Amino acid sequence: MADAFVDLRSDTVTRPTPGMREAMATAEVGDDVYGEDPTVNALEAEVAALFGHEAALFAPSGSMANQIALQLLVSPGNELLCDADAHVVTYEIGAAAAYGGISSRTWPAVGADIDPEAVAGMIRPDGYFAVPTRAIAVEQTHNRGGGGVIPLATLRELRRIADDAEVALHCDGARIWHAHVADGVPLVEYGQLFDTLSVCLSKGLGAPVGSLVVGSAEKIERARLIRKRMGGGMRQAGILAAAGRYALAHHVDRLAEDHARAARLAEAVAPFGVLAAAVRTNLVPLDLTKHALDARALAAAARDEGVLISVLGPRTARLVTHLDLDDAGVTHAATVLTRLLAA
Ligand SMILES: Cc1ncc(COP(=O)(O)O)c(C=O)c1O
Repeated sequence: MADAFVDLRSDTVTRPTPGMREAMATAEVGDDVYGEDPTVNALEAEVAALFGHEAALFAPSGSMANQIALQLLVSPGNELLCDADAHVVTYEIGAAAAYGGISSRTWPAVGADIDPEAVAGMIRPDGYFAVPTRAIAVEQTHNRGGGGVIPLATLRELRRIADDAEVALHCDGARIWHAHVADGVPLVEYGQLFDTLSVCLSKGLGAPVGSLVVGSAEKIERARLIRKRMGGGMRQAGILAAAGRYALAHHVDRLAEDHARAARLAEAVAPFGVLAAAVRTNLVPLDLTKHALDARALAAAARDEGVLISVLGPRTARLVTHLDLDDAGVTHAATVLTRLLAA
C-alpha cells in the first residue's frame, strides 16, 4: 500500500524498521528443522521464560500456532469451548475441525467480558452420549471484541473452573502484549494461568512473520511434530526470529503510544456512535448502526481521502493503530473520519 495512505486497517500492515532489518541481515542461522538455528532457539527460550513456561516453538503464523496448541489439547472427536467471535472459529477457516477433528462449541460473543460461571455451565464431562469438553480457549486481547482486555480476576476464575473440570485452558495471545501494557499485568502472570498460549510477533510488535506456541517441554516436543505435519517446519528461520527478538526488545513498551493514539481516534469519532470508554488498547470498533453511512460507504469515502479502514460487517468498521503510524497520520485520519461521519 502506498505510503500516501494512512493505513488503519490492521496492525499487521507494518514494515520492518531499519533496526529490525539490520538484525535480520546479521542473524546467525542454521537449519531449524534439525533444531540447529541458534537465533530461533534463542527466541524460543526467551519467549518461554517471559511467560514462565518450559518451552516455546516458533511457527509461521498465529493461526498455525493456535491450531498446533488446540491439537495438543483436544484429540479428534472431542470438544473445544470458545466464544462465537473467537479468531480460532471465525478466521481460521475451519482448521480445528479440518486438521484436528475438533468439535467447537461457542458461548455468545461478549468479547473480553466473559462470565466464567456461564462457561463452567457449558463444560461437558466424559460420558457416553455427549462430546466431552477438553479445552477452553480465550483471546487476550479480543480482536472482534474491540481490543478488550480480559481482567486478571476473570482469567483466574477460568483457571479454577478448568482445574475443577480437568480441562485445559488455551490463550490466543496474538495481542497479549497489549493487555500486558494496558493492565500492567506481568507476562509471566498471564503465562502461569494457561496450559498453552499462542503469542504473535507480527501484529503490534511489528515483525514481518512469526508466532510462538508456549507450554510445557512435553507439549512443545509434540508441537514440533504437529508443526512439521502441517508444513510449518522452516529452515534458516533465524532471519525471521531475529526480527521477533528485535521486536521484543524494542516494541513492547511503545504499545502505550498506540493505545493513546487509538484513544484519540475513539474520542474524535465518539459523538458518532463509538463508545470511547470501551477502547482499551489499539483497536477502535466503529458501530454504525444508527448512522446514515454503512461500513462500506464510510471505508470507500475515507479511502478517497487517503485513509484506509476495515469493514468487519455491514454496520461495523474498525480502526487499528500500530508502529507505522505517527501523530500527523492520526490527526489526518481523525479529521477525515469526523468530517465524513458528520456530513
Ligand atoms: C486474535 C488473533 N489471533 C490469531 C490471529 C492469526 O494470526 P495470523 O494472521 O498470523 O495467522 C490473529 C490475526 O489477526 C488475531 O487477531
